[in-house]
Amino acid sequence: MADLDQNTVTEAVIAQMADTPDPRLREVMASLVRHLHGFAREVKLTPAEWLAAIGFLTRVGQTCTPIRQEFILLSDTLGLSRLVNLMDDKANRVGEATETSLLGPFYREAAPQFGYGESIATRAKGPEMMLFGRVVNEAGEGVPHATVEIWQTDADGAYDLQVNNPEVMDMRGQFRTDAEGRYAIRTLIPLGYSIPMDGPVGAMVRAQNRHGFRPAHIHVLIGAEGYRELVTALYLGDDDHIDSDTVFGVSESLVVHPRAGLEGAPDPALPSVRYDFRIARKAAHDTSGRVGADPSKIAAE
Ligand SMILES: [Fe+2]
Repeated sequence: MADLDQNTVTEAVIAQMADTPDPRLREVMASLVRHLHGFAREVKLTPAEWLAAIGFLTRVGQTCTPIRQEFILLSDTLGLSRLVNLMDDKANRVGEATETSLLGPFYREAAPQFGYGESIATRAKGPEMMLFGRVVNEAGEGVPHATVEIWQTDADGAYDLQVNNPEVMDMRGQFRTDAEGRYAIRTLIPLGYSIPMDGPVGAMVRAQNRHGFRPAHIHVLIGAEGYRELVTALYLGDDDHIDSDTVFGVSESLVVHPRAGLEGAPDPALPSVRYDFRIARKAAHDTSGRVGADPSKIAAE
């Protein structure tokens, strides 16, 4: 046998994995090994640094619970979630569909259902706003009976999971568009927030002298029969961190400015945002565009 050196070890590993029956797994793992080894050679990774990385990833895993997903947070803060989103958009977005944004670590399935114009703030208190508009298709026609699901922080910048016990859902809800594709949601003006800084990802962000804040936003997930699911968010343009989101989720087309007296607003006295979401037809090969999941589902797998 030939002795391995710091270059030939890479090909030896790939050769040993060459019989992987699943071709995609074979491709992904070979590339992972090539880049991982290349990275270690480039930074001349030391045993102490290797051990520190193992310890870091161990803590990331240990921090995950049914209501907290530290690995998604790590992916988000490294820009990997945005990258995967951008690539998926490029491959699958049809025409002028609304831009996507991150699902994030605070999405939960089975949020309560509300009627047109009702408020998702069942417990939290604070200044109110209204979000209304239509869900339309590529031709600009309203999509009836689409599900519009939203979740956001309260006026103090906290998600329900961070202030209540996990059984309590607040500041999240599911709506349905009417026969013309219209929706209207009453909610609180969200506040920007810091990602959880008490775990290993927070320690990483601090070590990099980054601020850890996300600008105020409202998460949106739209689904309709025959259409591609849209995962996106609307960002409040007057937030101090609108240009430096710690998880790189903001796009210009998703920035909004709530204001009172808006034409057609269900309650003109309230600061309101009119936003039409455009969704694309589902292609035959379409898979889920969600970069993320309800943390309890990941923990259960
Ligand atoms: Fe969020």
